[in-house]
Amino acid sequence: MKIKVVKDYDEMSLLAAKQIIEQIKIKNNSVLGLATGSTPIGMYKNLIEYFKRGEVDFSKVITFNLDEYIGLDKGNEQSYIYFMKKNLFSHINIKEENIFIPDGTAKDAEIECKRYNELLEKYGPIDIQILGIGVNGHIGFNEPSKSLTLRTHVTDLTEDTRKANARFFDDISKVPTKAITMGIGDIMKAEKIILLASGKSKAPIIKHMVETGISTFIPASVLKLHKNVEIIADEDAASLIEKDSCIA
Ligand code: F6R
Repeated sequence: MKIKVVKDYDEMSLLAAKQIIEQIKIKNNSVLGLATGSTPIGMYKNLIEYFKRGEVDFSKVITFNLDEYIGLDKGNEQSYIYFMKKNLFSHINIKEENIFIPDGTAKDAEIECKRYNELLEKYGPIDIQILGIGVNGHIGFNEPSKSLTLRTHVTDLTEDTRKANARFFDDISKVPTKAITMGIGDIMKAEKIILLASGKSKAPIIKHMVETGISTFIPASVLKLHKNVEIIADEDAASLIEKDSCIA
């Protein structure tokens, strides 16, 4: 696991965007694994800028989002499909049919998970998987637990996660209690994984993840078993890591 420490959020965002652009230049039909939340917004802004300058073509790119809340309709501003359209898809030339996000409004969520797994098998492996990290160590919505699930599944959101995400809703009671998420195995199948972390609130979990062993109670720590993972952390997020844990 490589850790690249950069000055701030803007540098993190630019570096991550550059890696995606390089990937698309090498393979125009790259499969990207994407995340929502505050962390990747800057990276998406940079991708939009590259596109506007004519430096990248998304017309053959395929994207898979990590997760979606169950029970929010697609027009709900807090749904992840809405987030992705607003922050990336509606500004670039990606084709609608190349965008995959679990459908949180599906009548039968289990069937939806099966459908998503089949799509991942058909189009995968993901070339670059972008991840954020929850303050409790979750990746996607793979929450700390005695065991982790390999494939796309329905999950209960922990109170920690609901509290952390309540900032986007009127109040915590509006935060969904369930989501569909890609599993740890789906994430680990990606050729390359880039985990982004910014801000002091992420410093304790980044330290924990980097400096302690692998545990299902810190789902992100499982990434240590992957051959090609890079953490891009800004100085605040990396501020508690022992200096010799950093390669960069
Ligand atoms: C979102 C996702 C989550 C977030 C994590 C961090 O698609 O999968 O794991 O990456 O909760 O969220 P932010 O970036 O808002 O701190």
